[in-house]
Amino acid sequence: MPGSAPAVTAEAPAAPQADTAPAAPRADAAPAPAAAPWAAVGKPAPHESARLHVLGQADYTDDIAEVRGTLHAALGLSARAHARILAIDLSRVRASRGVTAVYTASDIPGTNDCGPIIHDDPILADGLVQYVGQPVFIVVADSHDNARRAARLAEVDYEELPAILTPQAARAAQSYVLPPMRLQRGDAQAAFERAPHRVKGELYVGGQEQFYLEGQIAYAIPQENQGMLVQCSTQHPSEMQHVVAHALGLHSHHVTVECRRMGGGFGGKESQSALWSAAAAVAASLLRRPVKLRADRDDDMLVTGKRHCFHYEYEVGHDDDGRIVAARVDMVSRAGYSADLSGPVATRAVCHFDNAYYLSDVDIRAACGKTNTQSNTAFRGFGGPQGAIAMEYVLDEIARNLGRDALDVRKLNFYGRKGEGRDVTPYGQVIVDNVIHELVDELEAGSDYRACRAAIEAYNRASPVLKKGLALTPVKFGIAFNVTHLNQAGALVHVYVDGSILVNHGGTEMGQGVNTKIMQVVAHELGVDLARVRVTATRTDKVANTSATAASTGADLNGKAAQDAAYQIRQRLAAFAARQYGGDPDGVRFAADTVSVAGHEIPFGDLVAKAYLARVQLWSDGFYATPGLSWDPKTMTGNPFSYFAYGAAVAEVVVDTLTGEWKLTRADALYDAGRSLNPALDIGQVEGAFIQGMGWLTTEELRWNGAGKLTTHAPSTYKIPGVSDCPEDFRVRLFDNANVEDSIHRSKAVGEPPLLLPFSVFFAIRDAISSVGGHRVDPPLQAPATCEAILDAVAAVQAAGAPVRAA
Ligand code: MTE
Ligand code: MOS
Repeated sequence: MPGSAPAVTAEAPAAPQADTAPAAPRADAAPAPAAAPWAAVGKPAPHESARLHVLGQADYTDDIAEVRGTLHAALGLSARAHARILAIDLSRVRASRGVTAVYTASDIPGTNDCGPIIHDDPILADGLVQYVGQPVFIVVADSHDNARRAARLAEVDYEELPAILTPQAARAAQSYVLPPMRLQRGDAQAAFERAPHRVKGELYVGGQEQFYLEGQIAYAIPQENQGMLVQCSTQHPSEMQHVVAHALGLHSHHVTVECRRMGGGFGGKESQSALWSAAAAVAASLLRRPVKLRADRDDDMLVTGKRHCFHYEYEVGHDDDGRIVAARVDMVSRAGYSADLSGPVATRAVCHFDNAYYLSDVDIRAACGKTNTQSNTAFRGFGGPQGAIAMEYVLDEIARNLGRDALDVRKLNFYGRKGEGRDVTPYGQVIVDNVIHELVDELEAGSDYRACRAAIEAYNRASPVLKKGLALTPVKFGIAFNVTHLNQAGALVHVYVDGSILVNHGGTEMGQGVNTKIMQVVAHELGVDLARVRVTATRTDKVANTSATAASTGADLNGKAAQDAAYQIRQRLAAFAARQYGGDPDGVRFAADTVSVAGHEIPFGDLVAKAYLARVQLWSDGFYATPGLSWDPKTMTGNPFSYFAYGAAVAEVVVDTLTGEWKLTRADALYDAGRSLNPALDIGQVEGAFIQGMGWLTTEELRWNGAGKLTTHAPSTYKIPGVSDCPEDFRVRLFDNANVEDSIHRSKAVGEPPLLLPFSVFFAIRDAISSVGGHRVDPPLQAPATCEAILDAVAAVQAAGAPVRAA
């Protein structure tokens, strides 16, 4: 398997087996330890819950055995996009079958807010509703169905207010949730005026519903002495703890939040799980009874925020070869009615407008349009995809204008190779790990890009209706939270007397396999079989003050913290073994479940049992803070990222120009997972992200009607990719490339960056459409490229007067 464990050399010595112990970084920062046969990292270990998943035995929040007396809640939702509530009559709700209680904003004991950064997110609307679907009241009943039925019986008298529904309208009205941002370098205006060629245009890229298979859910169980336990599906247990504590008017130590796993999060359970946790906890606290709030799919889609759609206006100057000399872009996103994570999403969009390209003179503006729609939030890539796609759109256009292959124009604009300069991002971070040239060369050769191009041209000449298209697009993605202080993590490792090991860390499992990777890290550090190690549910009373499992940093941060904890235990065991058997603690080896010391071979479990009797501490905490990060939000400059992950993909499509239907016939993807901790999981992440990103750019269309109601709020009207949309020929490989940064075993993050790989699908579709006009007209293709959008673009190319002839 590509990218699997590096070659076997020697067993690791007792001194840090891993690259470094976070507490005391080693100066020599050697490459990842050579993987011996016993090595637990670098192997394609199956997901720790794979068996449970397929047997239906993995417990999700709704599967947790219910406590006696559990009640069920539902939310009553606003029917207006923007209105004052003049009167609300809940008597029919209260009288409905099985109803125990109904609560509105005034019943909330503490703060009526669940906003993650800016406190503009009421749990329950108080007098003013700001989108169709905004929760107005909580109804608690004896069953889920009774609660839902009752929630529809409210009679609300609204005074309608004008509503803003699109990002463009928000910009026109200067309606923003935050002050607009701007990043400038050089003099984009002057460079633009000097440029020999200019392109100018607009682009709209739609949003995306997270569509986690397990919907939002929270189960709040009152504990003694004001305590509250909240079991919920969340990427951010600590944030849920804070929000619940504030809503109940309690301290953090009163509230414990637990999440064993999510059935997908994709960013949608970073901040947006808060509303559900807070509502369940408020009801449970007022009733002193356990309350479960599980969102029905329609409610989930109507209530929660999604990926931001973006509207762009761009002006780019380039030279005769297609090299960009000036770039200006003005983006506005649909933030929805409140800030939520729109600021950080826009910041990441600004920091990824460059994608893999050096831009000397740039002027990037981004604004978060306040609209009367769901409050948009994190979604895999977190604004990065929205920033980068605009640049790719421009490059595609430049290539067409010059009659060059888009791949050649892209290559010309790449950040410089080592020693060539052209290596500083617009925000001032120097790129020291650029492998985009090598990676793209490898993919270009491996995918037979040039031969495919020639074959497609021949095919299109002979085929008047079906047109093929091809595109290769690169990715460069910054890894770390832009906000420096979030880049920290903790872990707790217990070695029990029987030699089994229990790990707890601040990350959350949402299917991506972070627990598996952390088990591997701990097993590796202690030189034991993976089977000895178990990871349990994430809980705020085990590891405190955790960051969200987001920004793809789950394994990077928590892996290092768990390694730190395991390392400390190993040091204690080594010292003990040296005392018992003689020799130097540094000479004690931990490998293959055996401890070797001064000629003795002791089974790990035996040494642990002896160490316990000798009163050696067999558990430890661990901590990690990513070094070298900085960010100045005012100037939008600094070193926001620890390193960059790279990748590229080639897509080949065939488009029916009469119906707009299309098919992805082949996709080749190459992704830089550094020295992969687990190539099986990483390839799974690349495949999943590719298909998910393809859905965003093609079939997944969010539509709001004129009254601001989301009309695509169920799978019947919102089309995510199905298994039949996966290409029959799908070649995903990992690019072997040890991280130059001292990341966990020199691996790289994999969760989000591959979501940008299916840009190749979008641009292959655009290429196929472009062939209709002999590649002389830019198809005005917007995203998602639904069948209708494809037909519109085909018609526009034909109307532009280009001869309709084979390409
Ligand atoms: N993979 C699965 N199966 N399910 C998910 O919800 N979320 C993605 C990605 N991969 C997700 C996933 C997102 S948005 C992020 S930020 C990362 O996983 C988070 O996990 P990590 O940091 O451990 O990679
Ligand atoms: Mo991922 S969008 O950072 O949860």
